[in-house]
Amino acid sequence: MSVGSPVSRVWPAPATGPLTDPELAALYGRADRPHLRVNFVSSVDGAVTLDGYSAGLSGEPDKRVFGLLRMLCDGLVVAAGTLRHEGYRAVRLSEPRRAWRRANGLTDYPTLVVVSGSLDLDPAQGAFADAPVRPVVLTRDDATPPPGLTDVADLVRCGPDRVDLAAGLAELRRGGLGQLLCEGGPHLFGALTAADLVDELCLTVAPLLAGGGPGRISAGDASAPRRLPLRHVLAAEDGALMLRYARDADDAPPAGAAPAA
Ligand SMILES: NC(=O)c1ccc[n+]([C@@H]2O[C@H](COP(=O)([O-])OP(=O)(O)OC[C@H]3O[C@@H](n4cnc5c(N)ncnc54)[C@H](OP(=O)(O)O)[C@@H]3O)[C@@H](O)[C@H]2O)c1
Repeated sequence: MSVGSPVSRVWPAPATGPLTDPELAALYGRADRPHLRVNFVSSVDGAVTLDGYSAGLSGEPDKRVFGLLRMLCDGLVVAAGTLRHEGYRAVRLSEPRRAWRRANGLTDYPTLVVVSGSLDLDPAQGAFADAPVRPVVLTRDDATPPPGLTDVADLVRCGPDRVDLAAGLAELRRGGLGQLLCEGGPHLFGALTAADLVDELCLTVAPLLAGGGPGRISAGDASAPRRLPLRHVLAAEDGALMLRYARDADDAPPAGAAPAA
């Protein structure tokens, strides 16, 4: 794997040179227990989009870490809003990243997991139609799939009138997807936070002011603040900062516990 767009560690213990992909992979790593990592990019003044999309916030170094985090996970979780809006395609990884996964006892590709209460999903969208691994859709008990969706994805029904995220994640873990990466969007992140399901946040801060208008990386109903200790700070040549925050293992509620108020 190449060095790619240069990224250096500035905290803790500044590293002397740019990090290689294996060094970056080791810094982010895989947890030794079921784990939900969330990844976002925002402007320095907290905007989650520019002109309605995340692309304008994401430079090459952010894309490099974005791809590495995909390499490290078993399941890639995305909410239906982001899947539809950003036009998600099938999850692809370069051959060196697939080789890394095989060498580490993983399947070639992570499984895409879509969270959708309505099942207003297009089975012809690349994320489903071209998927190298059959995607999973977490949905409500009574949602009706559009024609063709069950030909290209497995439905997991969890919750009578909304998707019960704790139950959905538990089901994914029973199916072998222990290390989950969530790529948003803000309403899903807010709901995961409210249910106390977030173990880690990887946040790229892009060096620009977006101004008023766009929302934050979290949205939805208010919930109790939760402490999330800083684990590392990386700096990229384009001025982006990559921040990794993760809770201590003993701060996580036991699997199956009721969410904290
Ligand atoms: N900067 C970044 O890193 C980043 C990352 C991701 C997204 N984005 C941006 O965020 C925007 C989309 O975000 P969004 O907040 O509007 O939507 P979102 O969180 O991506 O999706 C919301 C949808 O998720 C589904 N959902 C099902 N159960 C849910 C539950 N329990 N809690 C929450 N959601 C549930 C629902 O889909 P159904 O309607 O199918 O029921 C709901 O409409 C886009 O502009 C995108 O570009 C930015």
